[in-house]
Amino acid sequence: MEKHWWQEVVVYQVYPRSFKDSDGDGIGDIPGIIEKLPYLEKLGIGAIWLSPVYQSPNDDNGYDISDYQEIMAEFGTMADMDRLIAAAQQRGIKIVMDLVVNHTSDEHRWFIEAQKGRDNDYRDFYIWADPAADGGVPNGLGSAFSGSAWEFDEASNQYYLHLFSKKQPDLNWENENVRQAVYDMMNFWIEKGIGGFRMDVIDLIGKQPQKELTGNGPKLHDYLQEMNRATFGQQDLLTVGETWGATPEIAKLYSDPARHELSMVFQFEHMMLDQEPGKEKWDLIPLQVGALKQALARWQTELGTEGWNSLFWENHDLPRIISRWGNDKEYREASAKFFAILLHMMKGTPYIYQGEELGMTNYVAEDISEVADIESVNMYHERLAQGYSKEAILASINKKGRDNARTPMQWDDSAHAGFTTGTPWLAVNPNYRDIHAAKALADPDSIFYTYQKLVQLRKKHPLMIWGEFELLPTEEKIFAYLRRYEGETWLIVGNFSDDEQTVMLPQFTVMATIIRNYPGDVDDLAQARLAPWEAFAVKVSEKR
Ligand code: GLC
Repeated sequence: MEKHWWQEVVVYQVYPRSFKDSDGDGIGDIPGIIEKLPYLEKLGIGAIWLSPVYQSPNDDNGYDISDYQEIMAEFGTMADMDRLIAAAQQRGIKIVMDLVVNHTSDEHRWFIEAQKGRDNDYRDFYIWADPAADGGVPNGLGSAFSGSAWEFDEASNQYYLHLFSKKQPDLNWENENVRQAVYDMMNFWIEKGIGGFRMDVIDLIGKQPQKELTGNGPKLHDYLQEMNRATFGQQDLLTVGETWGATPEIAKLYSDPARHELSMVFQFEHMMLDQEPGKEKWDLIPLQVGALKQALARWQTELGTEGWNSLFWENHDLPRIISRWGNDKEYREASAKFFAILLHMMKGTPYIYQGEELGMTNYVAEDISEVADIESVNMYHERLAQGYSKEAILASINKKGRDNARTPMQWDDSAHAGFTTGTPWLAVNPNYRDIHAAKALADPDSIFYTYQKLVQLRKKHPLMIWGEFELLPTEEKIFAYLRRYEGETWLIVGNFSDDEQTVMLPQFTVMATIIRNYPGDVDDLAQARLAPWEAFAVKVSEKR
């Protein structure tokens, strides 16, 4: 198999609005990211996935783009962007841009034209439908942000489709002109020397709205192959598709190199294990650790040789992992390191979301007025009307809402965590006096240095990148697996609980401890006591 740089690196996701504000307006910006490049270089990452920085009215914080070739004024200028690409390059870091082309903003020039009437040249850039026989919405398609996916346009007496907010009209990918316009725009960015694209909800572009079919439409892979040929195909760029509906079978269609589509996808099977099947993300059930292990192991094995995995616990849409499945109080440090070790030792490209390397936690909102995210706010009103209590709704927002990941980065213990000298657009988590980068950098045992060590180990040990994966059968709360490469075997073990556990793996002899989140080396595996959230990787030999 041909090897690629994007298999070897660790990627760090920056959510620019919340990363670092350089000019005191309370909003993170591109010069702020440039200022923090030495921090990222120290962590050792090889690429930044930059959430959208394009011109946008910010109905969905930049995922509603009004001009793909301009920078959002609050974030800086195109000159700043060029400086960021060059400055990152100098530190060996590539910039992966967010490609949001399932939809645009309703303030994009194309949509403004399209709304002028049925015979406008841009009308077919979007998806329009006549009212149903009763004059209502064309069909039952719903928006991910609550309510119908159809919005009425009085002037033309038609509805347009928006699978997200009504300020995010869906592009019509069946229209060749749309596809060409997107490819031209992608080439504009490729020529700037970027490292690739993260493709927002890419599994929706083949939709057939008349049939109420959204994900995994029949033309999806044709479009991606066409895109590959028209844009990045001749270069070795990182392309990662966001695909909520992917199974391992589907993921192979995207990422099998022979098919010339994408490098990899973000799959979410493991991220949906704590929600009631068939319900919404707000409808929580307890996580079964066994189910999580099985899901992760299945992806590891299925994409072992065809295709490639992406590995992540967090992003800008997900809550903080230690608040979600770890222990963000008593075992905050141990559980943060546990998740880091378990993830980075699996096969695939690891992604770190800003603040994950500090063990940042969920934010506790006491009132809906503290919540900024459109998804949470819309859901709040919808469920309130349906009779849910305020307390119940807030509880699910505090557990799963997207603001949890979007509170400003905690850089130090000065006002607003050193994120801004002004008033932050979203409140800083009050725990910033204790949890911040300056403190982490001064403590050799910090979560930050566990991540740094994992990144460094990856650079030294091809086993971490290429080694085969095998799940070991153990007690439910123990997550244990092997990686094997060129005659060498590593054993990774983690205690997924607040309690001590015993693990019995007498078939292995420890040859060296590679990393551990508690002091000291691992010696005997015949009957080992594991502290709460203990995790380690050891080099072993197998007894016969
Ligand atoms: C993706 C993004 C999310 C955004 C949505 C619509 O899921 O990650 O933040 O709201 O697409 O663009």
